[in-house]
Amino acid sequence: MQYVQLNDGNKIPTVGFGVFQIENDGPTYDAVKYALKVGYRHIDTAAAYFNESDVGRAVKNSGIEREEIFVTSKLWLQDHGYEAAKKAVDVSLQKLGLDYMDLYLIHQPYGDVLGAWQALEEAKHAGKIKSIGVSNMSPKIYSELVPQFSTLPAVNQVECNPTFQQKELRYLMDKDGVKLEAWYPLGHGDKKLLENPAISAMAKKYGKNAGQIILRFEVQEGFIILPKSTNPERIAGNINIFDFELTSDEINTIRAMDTGKGSHNPDAPGVGDNLLRNYKIHD
Ligand code: A2P
Repeated sequence: MQYVQLNDGNKIPTVGFGVFQIENDGPTYDAVKYALKVGYRHIDTAAAYFNESDVGRAVKNSGIEREEIFVTSKLWLQDHGYEAAKKAVDVSLQKLGLDYMDLYLIHQPYGDVLGAWQALEEAKHAGKIKSIGVSNMSPKIYSELVPQFSTLPAVNQVECNPTFQQKELRYLMDKDGVKLEAWYPLGHGDKKLLENPAISAMAKKYGKNAGQIILRFEVQEGFIILPKSTNPERIAGNINIFDFELTSDEINTIRAMDTGKGSHNPDAPGVGDNLLRNYKIHD
């Protein structure tokens, strides 16, 4: 497994296993156990995924040392503000059954983000969280909020793949040494992308599948990637991307596929309110 150094000195495995939309009480436990067995050392969950307890159980029962597994969770919007966020960190720890989380993110950048961030900074100082970060910050939101933080985020987890390469955001984040974590790194299974002839030709050349070519491109671009699969062969294959290297011409071919648009626009009016209405993690 390859690691990336964060701006706070901690190291994070380049490829993580995401558990969004996998049920708790069994399915997430089995999926995480399997992912750890085939070599993943980085699991990405969230309070709003409702499966932190299965993640924690799988980590505990894996037989792998806790320090070797990087566990991320995320604060939900309902718990923004200083006091609520402080409590929410403890609830996540309790559900995970862990003494610390490796990374805790502000999942959505709306409401009282500054108060929540202060709570995360304090939890980091108290040793409850090793690294803190943000998620779904567009260039506009990042430029408004991050300059008001007294600690820089270690990462910003956003939608990112060859058709949406986040060039403007990466320019801003690079200046701060903030790493990009990519959700939907395969365009959420986008057929047009996975069947792109140039990508298929590279797959043939390297004896890999199209998904592995896309993930390799992203790793060479410096992203931390969270590919999702429920297929055991592809789960294992998606971390088997460190035994070949794309040429600079191939990198440029994939760079040219950027459309500058993704499926989610964090700047759209009402996004925060809609998310809050649609996902309730407690009363
Ligand atoms: P499956 O679960 O059948 O493997 P994203 O990570 O961008 O959300 O994409 C997830 C989608 O991509 C899922 O539909 C998943 O299907 C598919 N997928 C995952 N890995 C690969 C791969 N290596 N090649 C092609 N499709 C993949």
